[in-house]
This record gives sequence, structure tokens and C-alpha cells, in this order.
Amino acid sequence: MRLFASHAASSSVVSTVALGLALALAACRSAPPVEPARAPFLFGDLPVGFPPPVDLSDVDAEFPAASAELVELGRHLFYDERLSGEGHTSCGFCHRQELAFTDGRARAIGGTGQFHPRSTMSLTNVAYNTSFGWANPELTTLEAQALVPMLNEHPVEMGVAGREEEVLDRFRQDPQSLERFRKAFPGDESPVRLATVARAISAFERTLLSGDSPYDRRVLRNDADALSEAAQRGMTLFFSERLACAACHSGFNFSGPVRTYTKAAPEGTFHNTGLYNLMGKGFYPSTDQGLYRKTGKPRDLGRFKAPTLRNIEVTAPYMHDGSLATLEDVLDHYAAGGRTLPNGPNAGVGSANRHKSELIRGFEISEEERQDLLEFLRSLTDRKFLTNPKFADPEVQLLPVGLPLR
Ligand code: HEC
Ligand code: HEC
Repeated sequence: MRLFASHAASSSVVSTVALGLALALAACRSAPPVEPARAPFLFGDLPVGFPPPVDLSDVDAEFPAASAELVELGRHLFYDERLSGEGHTSCGFCHRQELAFTDGRARAIGGTGQFHPRSTMSLTNVAYNTSFGWANPELTTLEAQALVPMLNEHPVEMGVAGREEEVLDRFRQDPQSLERFRKAFPGDESPVRLATVARAISAFERTLLSGDSPYDRRVLRNDADALSEAAQRGMTLFFSERLACAACHSGFNFSGPVRTYTKAAPEGTFHNTGLYNLMGKGFYPSTDQGLYRKTGKPRDLGRFKAPTLRNIEVTAPYMHDGSLATLEDVLDHYAAGGRTLPNGPNAGVGSANRHKSELIRGFEISEEERQDLLEFLRSLTDRKFLTNPKFADPEVQLLPVGLPLR
């Protein structure tokens, strides 16, 4: 079923709840008998209607299959500041659970205070991504991705480059940490290596599944009261041909193409949404031209990945550079068929960007419809995901009332 595959905006519009159900059924029907050794370890919590994701350990025979011990090690490492050159930056420093693993900033700031050109991405359902980062088709595994922030020097994120052994020694010399590595990599003579660190963190990231929003309860669990009437009207708009949101934010993950246990990795897709149009020549700001940076092809100027819209309510500000502050601003951008910046160094009429996707056409939308659509987007928030203690920093103890104590 490729109803809303990318570039298929002309596909038929189906009654929205029926569509949601159809998607859910398709997901259930295509789920194969899962061989336990190849499915990632998920605490047994695969959301209803979700296809199983892949665990790359079976591809990379060097590593054992995912286990509870491996995920637990990964969780500790994800939040451990010793995993940075200076010793005060962790993955969790930029990827905060309560913000669906974003940081609330327009652009990330690394451990040495350098600005990242881009906005921190949500880790909601990353297990399904075909590529990682806003516009990098070459980064196709979580294991490879995890090394990027550790070793990045432009900008420095965690500052591990050149200090690898020093950083790893901190874990080798700490009996508790070493024990965790030994349990996660049984039989490995030197279990504390960058590759094992990346493997463990990735195993933890694959457990970050979010599928218990009001939308899921309505569409996948048939709870008739889960969505307000406004949100249901908003859902119809979201899936309509007029707005075409689902042409790019598609499927159960409201994202670009996904990789699942049943499906070989599809090609990633990248789109220019007309956010900029410098000098009327189709350019984006020089700090970030999107996919073009990788391919050097002019038609790839300003093209980025369509990220998941799950938990979008809590991940402001928006877009690859955080340049849209609110969801209202995002809707203005799409309704106008691209953003116009009247002044300043980035001035330009985005809607006239020559590299813009043909799916970004602009549309009329009444005030009431706007509110409905916003209500629908907010119905993709999964409170349990944002507060699930299994995803939290294991070193932070919670008081019974829920106040963090550190
Ligand atoms: C300085 C802040 C910062 C730190 C520290 C950081 N990240 Fe990120 N993360 C980002 C930014 C910014 C992006 C987008 C990068 C890009 O597109 O080039 C990102 C993207 C990602 C993505 C891609 C998500 C997707 O949907 O494609 C993953 C996965 C990720 N980070 C995991 C991690 C892990 C694991 C760590 C620790 C090893 C980590 N990050 C440390 C800021 C950070
Ligand atoms: C042509 C494909 C396409 C269509 C159609 C589309 N989007 Fe997007 N969307 C994207 C891409 C690509 C990005 C990232 C763009 C960037 O950062 O420059 C994005 C970003 C977003 C974001 C910000 C995500 C974040 O994490 O910062 C939201 C919210 C959003 N879109 C909602 C919508 C809504 C609502 C619609 C329908 C009105 C829509 N999109 C239609 C491709 C699309």
C-alpha cells in the first residue's frame, strides 16, 4: 500500500479514520513471525500496530544480539557525561526526554559552547529511520550516527576526538561501569571500546518507541473518545489532498520512508519546503544548504528529511535550523507555500524557490481549520513516552512525588 508515498500527492483521498485503520491493519497484516534473535530488545513494548524495527546486531556479527543488559548499558552511557572530552556533555545533554529528546533550542550548543548549525532532532522512534540527521543519506545506522556527536570537531559536540583512550579509561577504571560492559558483551576481552559504546547506545535508542498518543488510541485501539471532534476534523485536513501533509509525513510514524524488520531499507527522501530563497536564486543560508552539501547537485539545495511529527507539540522551535518558533508559524509557512522573509541577510520569497517540492503549493485555510489541525498535531503527543522511567537517566532518583533528586 503506497497511498502516501513521497511524490504521490495525487493519490486518492480516503476517509481519514478509514485510512488510519487501513494503515494499522496493513502494519498488522505484514508483520512476519519475528525471530527473537533478530528483533531488537524492546522491553517487550512494541506499540500496537507498529511493525517490528530491525536490530543491526545480526548484520554486524561482531556483536551479540541485543539484550536487557546491553540496553541498560546504553542507557547509562547515553546519560553519562564522562563520555565527553571535557566531562560535562552527554547525549542526554542535548536530547532531553521530556522534550521528546530534543533540547528546546533553535540550534544545538556543544560541550565547548560552539553552536551547531542545526537543531537537535527528536529521537522518537529513531529505530525506524532509513538515514540519520537532517540531510545525510550516507549515515544509515544508529551505530555510525552515535560516533558523530562524540567525534565531531566542526562543531565540537562531545569533544572525544583525539582523547578516545582517555575517555574510555574513565569507564575501564570504574568497577561498576566495567561490570556493565562485561555483562553486555559477555566473552569480549576488552569490552570498553568506541564501537561497543556506539552499539550499546544504539540498542537503547531502539527502545525509544512512542505509540500511545490519543491518535493511536483512536485509530489503532478503536477508543472512540480518545480524539476530540476538533482533532478528528484536523486529522481529515492533515490527510487531505489540499494540505498534502501526509504526502511527506506519512505512515504510522508520520515521517519520511521507514525501515522495518519486514522491509529492506528504502531510499531516504529529502525535500525543499521553500523556507528560504536568498537573492531569488534558490539558496538557503550559507551555513546549511541541506542535501546539496552531500551531493553538490543544485537540485538538492535546501532539501531536508521530513522528520516524524510524533510528539511535535513538545519539540519547538521547528525546522532544521529552528527558525520557526511555533506550530502556528509552521502552518503559516505551509499555507503560504513557503516563507517570505522581507528583510535581513536571509531575505527572500521562499514560495518562489526554484528547488521547492511541487507538493508545497500553499492553501487556503480558515481560522477554525487551523485550530483543528493544531489540535490534531497535539494529539500525536505521547505523555507516557515523555515520562517513561525506562528511558530516563538511571542515575537520577525520583522521589515518590516525582521530583528529581540529583
Ligand atoms: C550538542 C548537542 C548534541 C549532542 C551532545 C548529541 N546530539 Fe544527537 N543531534 C544533535 C543535532 C544538532 C542533530 C542533527 C544533526 C544533523 O542533522 O546534522 C542530532 C541528531 C541525532 C540523531 C538523528 C535523528 C534522526 O531522526 O535522524 C540521533 C540518532 C542522535 N542525534 C543521537 C545522539 C546520540 C546517541 C548522542 C550521544 C552519543 C547525541 N546524539 C549527542 C545534537 C546533539
Ligand atoms: C514536500 C514534503 C512535505 C510536505 C508536503 C509537508 N512537509 Fe512538513 N516537513 C518537510 C520537511 C522536509 C521538513 C524539514 C524542513 C526543513 O527543516 O527545512 C518538514 C518539517 C515540518 C515540521 C517541523 C518538524 C521539526 O521537527 O522541526 C512540521 C511541524 C511539519 N513539517 C508539519 C507539516 C504539516 C502540518 C504539513 C501540511 C500542512 C506538512 N508538514 C507538509 C516535508 C514536508
